[in-house]
Amino acid sequence: MSIEETVQTRCWRSEADTAACARALAAAMRAEPALRDSFIALHGDLGAGKTTFVRYLLRALGVTGRIKSPTYTVVEPHEAGADQAGPRWAAYHLDFYRFNDPREWDDAGLRDLYAAPGLKLAEWPDKAAGHLPAPDLILRIETVDDDFRAVSFQAASPRGRRLLTLMLTPAPDAPSAAASATPS
Ligand SMILES: Nc1ncnc2c1ncn2[C@@H]1O[C@H](COP(=O)(O)OP(=O)(O)OP(=O)(O)O)[C@@H](O)[C@H]1O
Ligand SMILES: [Mg+2]
Repeated sequence: MSIEETVQTRCWRSEADTAACARALAAAMRAEPALRDSFIALHGDLGAGKTTFVRYLLRALGVTGRIKSPTYTVVEPHEAGADQAGPRWAAYHLDFYRFNDPREWDDAGLRDLYAAPGLKLAEWPDKAAGHLPAPDLILRIETVDDDFRAVSFQAASPRGRRLLTLMLTPAPDAPSAAASATPS
């Protein structure tokens, strides 16, 4: 497997680029149900754009209603696929920034959550290191300046590689959304 298949880099110059990548990832999950149980770890400093990416992703996955940031709650559960008549599935948005008590892992039901099916999208995964399983896909967002974010997607499992591969495959009726965000 070549490095290109394992790591993809992008420049995001606006939220429109963020949205395009999120839509491409969502299209992959909509196309293949096995990808809906992925664990995606999101790295980046405060204000890098992790929550923004997750919001666009959840919206593109058919989550309706308000998408609150889980900064204070650790986890916000959502129902993906709610915009269509087909099956629905769980999608969990997690933020470990304020996670500092290991007992919280069990108390907040996080062990059960990670053992169950459903998409897991975790901001600040380093703060729960030692608890979290290995991710399928690692997203790193680096703010270069207000209008420029250097981004990498790294596949860390066969499922993650499949996600990356499908992200790069244009939908039949549209140019590749991920490819339209400027490759670096
Ligand atoms: N690609 C982008 N281009 C320009 N601005 C962006 C982009 N992505 C996010 N922003 C803006 O950056 C700000 C912070 O974004 P966001 O809350 O998503 O960051 P975060 O990484 O989740 O931060 P935290 O670590 O505090 O949770 C928001 O005002 C958002 O509109
Ligand atoms: Mg956030």
